[in-house]
Amino acid sequence: MKKSFLWGGLAAGMAHEINNPLAGVTQTAEVLTNRLTKIDMPANKKSAEQVGIQMEQIFAFMEKRNVPHMLEIIRTSGQRVSDIINNMLSFSRKSQLVFDAHRIEELIETVLEMAGSDFSHKTGYDFRKIKIEKSYEKNVPAIACDDVKIQQVLLNILRNSAQAMQRVTNKTPIIRICLSSRPDTGMICLSIKDNGPGMDKATTKKIFEPFFSTKPKGEGTGLGLSVSYFIITQIHGGTIDVQSEKGRGTCFEICLPIQQLSSSDNRRD
Ligand SMILES: Nc1ncnc2c1ncn2[C@@H]1O[C@H](COP(=O)(O)OP(=O)(O)OP(=O)(O)O)[C@@H](O)[C@H]1O
Ligand SMILES: [Mg+2]
Repeated sequence: MKKSFLWGGLAAGMAHEINNPLAGVTQTAEVLTNRLTKIDMPANKKSAEQVGIQMEQIFAFMEKRNVPHMLEIIRTSGQRVSDIINNMLSFSRKSQLVFDAHRIEELIETVLEMAGSDFSHKTGYDFRKIKIEKSYEKNVPAIACDDVKIQQVLLNILRNSAQAMQRVTNKTPIIRICLSSRPDTGMICLSIKDNGPGMDKATTKKIFEPFFSTKPKGEGTGLGLSVSYFIITQIHGGTIDVQSEKGRGTCFEICLPIQQLSSSDNRRD
């Protein structure tokens, strides 16, 4: 048995082992929040009355001792651990891959549809404000890929662009998506370009490194692009590159092999 297979299995096993107690922590924090701060909850009112106290008094005490804020910290910290674990699982879940023929245009459309609700929920930013310009070459062939994984990559990239463009307020945010086939290299190539704040050279060099993030502490895991890199290069045998200029925007280019690969070719244990 190869070493990397063992590590993948170990990482997946550890992730599951951590997920269970983590769910215990976050779910209990939620129950505590309900029991200590929901004044109108009948079960709360009843228990408070039984011990001769009003929920309003309990709530006032909690507020004074900053307890709701502490419970919120447990919730957000738990969510962060859960995000990190789920990202780590993406590195090891190779056995669950499903390779099928998919048209990239269709995957992009699904992701753009998903983006609306996903972004407003995760970033507080309305994705529909962004102008999307599409240019798809005709008759780009379908490729063999795991659609869920490719969608994960596209979502990561679009989410990063949306978050970055949020910082630029003086121009209409635009994302340009271009798709073409490159018969000379046997690849199809997809570029996703934004007109956001861009990055300096030092930042651009680091973005595919695990845990690299410029987001405020506690916000980004810094795993989005390293997982994307893994999915494109290791799982699909493709390439992913970035070009960015400070003040002008960022462009990601993903190239994937046209040739139908059997799933066993792509599972590198
Ligand atoms: N379109 C972009 N414009 C400007 N900076 C970007 C863009 N895409 C990525 N970056 C930079 O790359 C860094 C790493 O991105 P990555 O997706 O790996 O992590 P993250 O977005 O910080 O965290 P998470 O993905 O968990 O939210 C970002 O923090 C940001 O600095
Ligand atoms: Mg990201």
